[in-house]
Amino acid sequence: MHDQAEKLRLAVRSMKDQIEQDVFAGMKHTRVIAVTSGKGGVGKTNIALNLSLALAANGVRVILMDADMGLANIDIIIGVVPKYNLYHVIRGEKTVKEIMLIGPHNLSIIPGGSGIRELANLPQETLKRVINDLGRFDGEYDLMIIDTGAGISQSVLSFLTAADDVIVITTPEPTSLTDAYGIIKAMSAQRARGTIYIVINRVEMEAEGVLVAHKLTRVAENFLGVEVEPMGYLVEDEVVEKAVKEQQPFIINYPNSAVSKNIRTIAEQIHTGVLANQTVTKPSGLKTFFRNLTNFFR
Ligand SMILES: Nc1ncnc2c1ncn2[C@@H]1O[C@H](COP(=O)(O)OP(=O)(O)O)[C@@H](O)[C@H]1O
Ligand SMILES: [Mg+2]
Repeated sequence: MHDQAEKLRLAVRSMKDQIEQDVFAGMKHTRVIAVTSGKGGVGKTNIALNLSLALAANGVRVILMDADMGLANIDIIIGVVPKYNLYHVIRGEKTVKEIMLIGPHNLSIIPGGSGIRELANLPQETLKRVINDLGRFDGEYDLMIIDTGAGISQSVLSFLTAADDVIVITTPEPTSLTDAYGIIKAMSAQRARGTIYIVINRVEMEAEGVLVAHKLTRVAENFLGVEVEPMGYLVEDEVVEKAVKEQQPFIINYPNSAVSKNIRTIAEQIHTGVLANQTVTKPSGLKTFFRNLTNFFR
């Protein structure tokens, strides 16, 4: 008797799952792009934030997640100290909606804080609640941009493997390039889909950006058999440091600077290229992303 009731319940549930899947299949998923680097201090956080803002200014619905567990610093650049972060969601004290910050152009920001590290060791029930809460926003946004930590650790690789696409930031410096190559190599062993893009930061002029991107692309192809796609470059510009000191994104305080123009060019590529071309690699959605992420963590 008990057995039959259980069977029935399972059948109903799988039917419900099927219906939900069919309904959601017609819905647009949020695309997840992880911004990473081999070496720290190459401009990852500044680029993730300003790129998100440039996209948001163009009407793209963007959610930016600060997932650098070492130095959660998006909040520092926008000059707000978030009272709560993902840790409080995990603790059950806040919902994701309640910890979200709203920046300029309606940009939503999720402060990860110490919560990112916690994700690795949660009991099943807690994990399910947190993933459900994060997954709730699927389709409400066109794009989630994630500022990950630097370097090759399993936790960073988990973000890179679970994301739809990855942007690797490097400067023309040999150490930065070597570390960028290292992270591309580590990814190539684990990633099966999506595109790896590269952005060269702090170049003297456009020609340097093109040359360095070309070299890195060639090396990745020849030695790893991995296709990486140059996405653009950003010039060395004093307004970056100025804006950091002013605790304002440079694209807001210095919209006419050279580096802001570079950001808008990259944003345009994402808007009209990556996002418009959802059919090439279909985004798998936030729930799947966070489920994969936490699976890879384990
Ligand atoms: N295009 C640039 N021009 C000048 N300085 C830059 C540029 N990009 C980054 N920087 C400098 O590098 C510092 C570190 O940038 P940040 O975005 O915090 O790097 P990461 O997140 O990779 O550690 C910035 O505070 C700024 O001083
Ligand atoms: Mg950073």
